[in-house]
Amino acid sequence: MIHRAIYHAIGNTPIIGVPITSGKLYAKLEYLNPGGSVKDRSALYMIEYAEKHGQLKPGGTIIDASSGNQGIAMAMIGAAKGYTVIICVSEKISQEKLQTLRAYGAQVHIFPTTDSLDHPESYHAHAIKLHQQTPNSFMPNQYYNILNAQAHYKLLGPEIWQQTEGHITHLFAAAGTGGTISGAGRFLKEQNPNIRIIAIDSINSYRATNGHPKPYHIEGMGVDFISPVYDEAIIDEAILVSDQQALSILATLSHQHGLLVGPSSGAVCFAAMHYAQNHFCSKDIGIMIFGDSGRAYLTRNYYASDQQEDSLKLVKTENSESLTIR
Ligand SMILES: Cc1ncc(COP(=O)(O)O)c(C=O)c1O
Repeated sequence: MIHRAIYHAIGNTPIIGVPITSGKLYAKLEYLNPGGSVKDRSALYMIEYAEKHGQLKPGGTIIDASSGNQGIAMAMIGAAKGYTVIICVSEKISQEKLQTLRAYGAQVHIFPTTDSLDHPESYHAHAIKLHQQTPNSFMPNQYYNILNAQAHYKLLGPEIWQQTEGHITHLFAAAGTGGTISGAGRFLKEQNPNIRIIAIDSINSYRATNGHPKPYHIEGMGVDFISPVYDEAIIDEAILVSDQQALSILATLSHQHGLLVGPSSGAVCFAAMHYAQNHFCSKDIGIMIFGDSGRAYLTRNYYASDQQEDSLKLVKTENSESLTIR
């Protein structure tokens, strides 16, 4: 098939076996989307919804806050559709993502990391201010806009259902906004209410600590605010994962399986493996969403051999009891 524009190539990502997980867990490689992450889907959906409803007009400016990937998706789609794109990020963003945003021609504003998104100095609060000051601008507001989850209800959920021919029993996805897990999860539960929908969150996030967050390094994953995008009614449980646990599996995935994935995918894989070990029966099939590529984190040295040795030691010392399941 020939696509008219880059954003028409979003979706239809492959699901592949991950041998490390003894054949019960499969990964949906969302990093093979053209912008390199699962967020291509939500960005495209929100932009096209805004175009359809007159919120985004030709010559307009797209402004949003992002941990990086939603911004990259907006920058890629904005470039192809002729919009100016301004992205507000926290200083936690990797150099690779920062440079990618700029390479797509986006303007990037960087702000110090705050405990919560609702903090008046957060990158999200600054994006709102910028939007209010900028004529003919549109703010998708991925953190609070339920269209974010709806995108995954319309696109990702049906794709997983079709690709697994209805045999999926568990969905594992990292939660940042909660859009991916809530939207895809809602669609899958409508097809079969017995499918377990499992969110992976950082052990130090705002949500995981009941409003007393501690710093953590993983980008994209971690629920740092309370919003309707994270749908409690759909998510059966949240598994909380530490930075160390998430990183501990990355070198193994890349060195032994050719899966060069980012830390949120490491968290998902780590949590899903432990969950499957303890809870799966023989017919269970789990789909893990691998949200972005390790290429966005190469300067972080997560994938070196010495890191792998340390990682293996870590995996051995961290048993499943160190995972918090809610
Ligand atoms: C790499 C990665 N994984 C997972 C997520 C979480 O997705 P969601 O915001 O839909 O919960 C994000 C969000 O930015 C991400 O960038």
